[in-house]
Amino acid sequence: MASSPRTVLISGCSSGLGLELAVQLAWDPRKRYQVVATMRDLGKKEMLEVAAGETLGKTLTVAQLDVCDDASVAQCLSHIEGGDVDVLVNNAGMGLVGPLEGLSITTMQSVFDTNFFGAVRLVKAVLPGMKRRRKGHIVVVSSVMGLQGVMFNDVYAASKFALEGFFESLAIQLLQFNIFISLVEPGPVATDFEGKLLAQVSKAEFPGTDPETLGYFQDLYLPVSSQLSCSVGQSPKDVAKAIVKIISATQPPLRRQTNTRYVPLMVLKDLDPSGRLYVRIAHHLLFRWPRILHFSLHCLACGCHPNRVWPR
Ligand SMILES: NC(=O)c1ccc[n+]([C@@H]2O[C@H](COP(=O)([O-])OP(=O)(O)OC[C@H]3O[C@@H](n4cnc5c(N)ncnc54)[C@H](OP(=O)(O)O)[C@@H]3O)[C@@H](O)[C@H]2O)c1
Repeated sequence: MASSPRTVLISGCSSGLGLELAVQLAWDPRKRYQVVATMRDLGKKEMLEVAAGETLGKTLTVAQLDVCDDASVAQCLSHIEGGDVDVLVNNAGMGLVGPLEGLSITTMQSVFDTNFFGAVRLVKAVLPGMKRRRKGHIVVVSSVMGLQGVMFNDVYAASKFALEGFFESLAIQLLQFNIFISLVEPGPVATDFEGKLLAQVSKAEFPGTDPETLGYFQDLYLPVSSQLSCSVGQSPKDVAKAIVKIISATQPPLRRQTNTRYVPLMVLKDLDPSGRLYVRIAHHLLFRWPRILHFSLHCLACGCHPNRVWPR
């Protein structure tokens, strides 16, 4: 007898990865999932509804949920039949780039409120039910920046590192309750994420930043960052496909990177646990060997290195 569908609640489905994942799960040929695709502003639901097509109202429903608002979380869960979430996907997130001196503490706190405390708030809401039923899966969309610092992404990377530490700690206790945690770590993904960041940067003045640092940000970091996205960026479809596989696994992994093209940058940290190698090479590539960096990114972009999705 086929088992009943698992209820999957996903945050941040107005665009990008959340939207793509919600739709792929809703279209599962074996109808294994009942997707609650949430977003903070239901005024943006049209794109999701169009992509959901005939699954809308069947295997996919759209609901309001702002991860920064306790009342919104409670209201959303109260509409789920039985209130039981089998799979929670913490996807909602925002970026922040720029020289530290020019960013206010309030702006930095809003990144943590969304990326870190938003995920914690949802976990606190669904965990009692998962523990009672002694089953569940919590998927967290982290980033390679949850494992590795990147220049001028200090606060965003910190929020993803915070997720990594929090969920790795929680995973130990939750195994006792048959609840799994999976941290998904994509490299750059071709969504609105970068466009939103660039819009933010174009309006920001970064007051209090010295001209040398501002120059490094505008003339060095921004061009390399956009070249990196073009060279190694994955489609949201591919990353969502990797997450679907993780959700359907009987023994889901604690960590999963999704982009093989990003591996050369990641191994530097593994090769030298002191961290010196990664910091030195990243520094040299940006400040001393920019031609080598541009050439490497150009080679990665040429497509001779297949951009595999993990797990296959
Ligand atoms: N794109 C990348 O290069 C990349 C790489 C690694 C990891 N990630 C991670 O992937 C996740 C999804 O990002 P994406 O690339 O799909 O970008 P995206 O298209 O900008 O999606 C972000 C989603 O989060 C939502 N969101 C923001 N604040 C929220 C809040 N308070 N409550 C509920 N939803 C909120 C946004 O809603 P609104 O439309 O209302 O703003 C949007 O739906 C994020 O956690 C991001 O950090 C992205």
